[in-house]
Amino acid sequence: NKGSYEHYMQKEIYEQPESLTTTMRGRLIRGGSCKAKSVLLGGLKDHLKTIRRSRRIVFIGCGTSYNAALASRPFLEELSGNIFQLLTGLPVTMEIASDLLDRRGPIYREDTAVFVSQSGETADTLRALEYALENRALCVGITNTVGSAIARNTHCGVHINAGCEIGVASTKAYTSQIVVMAMLALAIGDDTISSRTRRDAIIDGLYDLPNKVREVLKLDQEMKDLAKLLIAEQSLLVFGRGYNYATALEGALKVKEVSLMHSEGILAGEMKHGPLALVDENLPIVVIATHDVCFSKQQSVIQQLHARKGRLIVICSQGDSALVCTGGSCRVVEVPQVEDCLQPVINIIPLQLLAYHLTVLRGHNVDQPRNLAKSVTTE
Ligand code: UD1
Ligand code: M6R
Repeated sequence: NKGSYEHYMQKEIYEQPESLTTTMRGRLIRGGSCKAKSVLLGGLKDHLKTIRRSRRIVFIGCGTSYNAALASRPFLEELSGNIFQLLTGLPVTMEIASDLLDRRGPIYREDTAVFVSQSGETADTLRALEYALENRALCVGITNTVGSAIARNTHCGVHINAGCEIGVASTKAYTSQIVVMAMLALAIGDDTISSRTRRDAIIDGLYDLPNKVREVLKLDQEMKDLAKLLIAEQSLLVFGRGYNYATALEGALKVKEVSLMHSEGILAGEMKHGPLALVDENLPIVVIATHDVCFSKQQSVIQQLHARKGRLIVICSQGDSALVCTGGSCRVVEVPQVEDCLQPVINIIPLQLLAYHLTVLRGHNVDQPRNLAKSVTTE
């Protein structure tokens, strides 16, 4: 039931304050006067010790689920430090399920393999799970569908509880997957004196996230206006790095799969190694430059794009317009700032809205893009 919404994709974008609340329900613990704030993932509690002792974490998924895992890698690397690792983070590697299978890539018994899938039925991810089980890795699922093949066949896991997702373009599942992986990182990492402040800030940030999502959804009209400007374009580039490299890939995936406009997510650090040749006064480029440890590097990317007369749309933190838009003209989209590692949850939302409005304006099918299926059950 779409209720008052015209499309499921629109409904699911708007549902995110609630879906994130359900994802976190009962899993965050505020802590008492002398007790630390913490995280409880019922499905993992008996396996945390094994995960902590593993040699590495390998994320495996396809499409949006892969992107959600990529968004989580930096904070998992940071927070997964524990006494078995002498408090340094666990190595985290990334595998697109089909590529892992094509290579029969190395998966070891000492690995924790984390399978991320909204449907829990994606054929490539499921085959990769069978392969990892054969190799005797500990297999963990992060799924939205109770009783799905991946939920049933993993050793343990976490349901993201985002509610049923109907639009072929994954939106609310993406943000819930990132939140689950943030909770996973907090659960794996040891609560030491040195990490306490950071962990508390992330947990507080998680509590406040639904409110911040409500705030960023107010950009709807602004993104619709932007879509009107871009309606006839052939292509859109999206530059991101650090915590928001995944946001660039995921934003571009949303735009291409529903609006049928070519779009490419680019790691900003790779700009000079090829993509810069595309830049001129015509090609629209989104640059994600919210406030984090990469901010000054993104400022310099913006300056270099300006120097080539790039047509820029910059997503930045509230109040940073003047800092990102020096030395050229650009359109700025200001978003609320949250704890850096949770910022991808906020930053993807204007891009989801942009993809949605572009699709409606271009007259394409929003919920059932041509040639695509919600669940890809063949390899
Ligand atoms: C569970 C209940 C929830 C209840 C809560 C109360 C279910 C599905 N969930 O939630 O209704 O409110 O306890 O404490 O009954 N699993 C996998 N692979 C996956 C996903 C999950 O093996 O991909 C396993 C988990 O290891 C766990 C079980 O499925 O054994 C349920 O997982 P999850 O729903 O995340 O657990 P809880 O949050 O504890
Ligand atoms: O159900 P899954 O999360 O395993 O699906 C993986 C991809 O097929 C899926 O994310 C796909 O990329 C979406 N259409 C993206 O919006």
